[in-house]
Amino acid sequence: TFAEEDYAIERPLVTSTGLRQGLTSYGDAHFSLFLRKVFIKALGYSEDALSRPIIGIINTYSSFNPCHANVPQLIEAAKRGVQLNGGLAIDFPTISIHESFSYPTSMFLRNLMSMDTEEMIKAQPVDACIMIGGCDKTVPAQIMGGLSANKPILPLVTGPMMPGSHKGKRIGACTDCRNNWAAFRAGSLDVEDIASLNEELAPTVSPLQLNTREMSTDESKAGTCGVMGTASTMACITAALGLMPLRGASAPAVSSARLRISEETGANAVAAAGAKRSPQSILTKESFYNAITVLQAIGGSTNAVVHLMAIVNRHPDLCGSGDITLQTFDDIGRKVPLLIDLKPSGDNYMTDFHNAGGMLALLHTLRPLLHLSAMTISGVTLGEVLDKTPFRTFPYSQDIIRPLSNPLYPASSLVVLKGNLAPGGAIIKASASKDRRLLCHTGPAVVFKNSADLALRIDDPDLNVTQDSVLVLQAIGPIGNPGMPEAGMIPLPRKLAAAGVTDMLRVSDGRMSGTAGGTIVLHVSPEAILPTSVLGIVRDGDIITCDAEKRVLHLNLGQQEINERLAERALSSEQSARTDDIQTKRGYAGLYQRSVNQAQEGADFDFLTAAGPKRR
Ligand code: FES
Ligand code: MG
Repeated sequence: TFAEEDYAIERPLVTSTGLRQGLTSYGDAHFSLFLRKVFIKALGYSEDALSRPIIGIINTYSSFNPCHANVPQLIEAAKRGVQLNGGLAIDFPTISIHESFSYPTSMFLRNLMSMDTEEMIKAQPVDACIMIGGCDKTVPAQIMGGLSANKPILPLVTGPMMPGSHKGKRIGACTDCRNNWAAFRAGSLDVEDIASLNEELAPTVSPLQLNTREMSTDESKAGTCGVMGTASTMACITAALGLMPLRGASAPAVSSARLRISEETGANAVAAAGAKRSPQSILTKESFYNAITVLQAIGGSTNAVVHLMAIVNRHPDLCGSGDITLQTFDDIGRKVPLLIDLKPSGDNYMTDFHNAGGMLALLHTLRPLLHLSAMTISGVTLGEVLDKTPFRTFPYSQDIIRPLSNPLYPASSLVVLKGNLAPGGAIIKASASKDRRLLCHTGPAVVFKNSADLALRIDDPDLNVTQDSVLVLQAIGPIGNPGMPEAGMIPLPRKLAAAGVTDMLRVSDGRMSGTAGGTIVLHVSPEAILPTSVLGIVRDGDIITCDAEKRVLHLNLGQQEINERLAERALSSEQSARTDDIQTKRGYAGLYQRSVNQAQEGADFDFLTAAGPKRR
């Protein structure tokens, strides 16, 4: 199948697909193609193979990333799906981000990964791209980058891990990591127990190593955190956006179903490439309304709010249109009950969700609340997807995916708060509150200036704190502590925990893990480090009111006093040193601090949004 027209130098080349994409590198398009073929043939491909649609597969395997341990198997299965359907599959790497091995935080690297993803999809001659990811920041980073690159993209998640077991009780990363650590801090769990739990919470084994011996489902726990944390939330949201097969959100990492989903994704990629189904053409505001509906119904991670806003703002039609803002999450939340009984809002694990019918069962249940005309990557609408796969209640359990008539929480799992303490908004996951009385609470602030200050003083026996205090942590916002660490779940002072206190109202400009729970106000905007931030001028003893029902976060201080404190702070040497430091910092950290926008905008770099950079 030697392509004669490739050598017909008197005629212009049609350069829209496959190896012919973007042939401008050497001025002479025919020569550029000729040279490209020299090097791709060095990999052993024939003219026949090279005449097919090229499907890129993003490989995010890393030996530092247990959540992606099964990526090699997924690549193999996806390639099978591509090649059975007449495409040519070529995998390539991007960076790999694991939550625990991403100093200072994985969120710090999310935007870098999105740039890597966008530029590699643009740079290489792929007609469509399967993006394999899973761990928390990976899926949003890939969708952000893929949406900006705007070639057909097909997210494929690694899938959740299986739960472990300790003394006959099921446990799983990472809600049980946090609960048990809190129990250990409070003295109700001894050191032997906490050490043996450590082995079982995510006893991940790479299937690559397991290939050499018999694999049992009990020991093979590669995959993402097994509760409704950020990874699971983003997987469900990706399916709700129509970018992924519905079963793809929940099939366990180690299941054979996961491999069949990979193969199906390969087939879908060839079809999407042929139809040139780009993400900017598929995703509309209705797609995002569906995603937010699902987010509320699953009691999903607060991080997903930030990620979704970053994705929305990458879309030229939606960026700055006002169609989707923080307020949209609250408006939709008022109509959507929490239906999924999974940790941290409920009791169970992702495997239970999958066995109860997963996203298919959930979307059938939510059907009256969804926009069924939203398009999917497979070229049919969400309504048509649901019609093609009817859902029978029996024999699925309705304990895990509740019917609309019997929800776990009536509405508004995630609530948006506003007030003088957070003019740009703040988020609270009301459904994960441990002491729901605190959802309407007024108390005196105990303020920590930053994470280091917190670490130094939180367990001080002399700390002036009671269970009615409001713990305030400053300077962990996107700029203040680059990447906005998941430090918003401020630990309870040990003396109170030991006395039996299990929850307190906590307020910060940071994030918390999707697997965490408590009465915790997050993403306060503007963040404390900014000169206009009221959070930044809160002092010990100031009275704070949080009322989730009324959507209020208020600092009980007169406007004149607030203005005086802001003015005083603006003139402080601390503030000018901080500004100097940010303006002169080198490398990615400097780029990050100078360019990141606020949480309600997605904590993306302003120059990556569809609107482009802000003038400075
Ligand atoms: Fe990767 Fe939880 S650490 S999903
Ligand atoms: Mg997490």
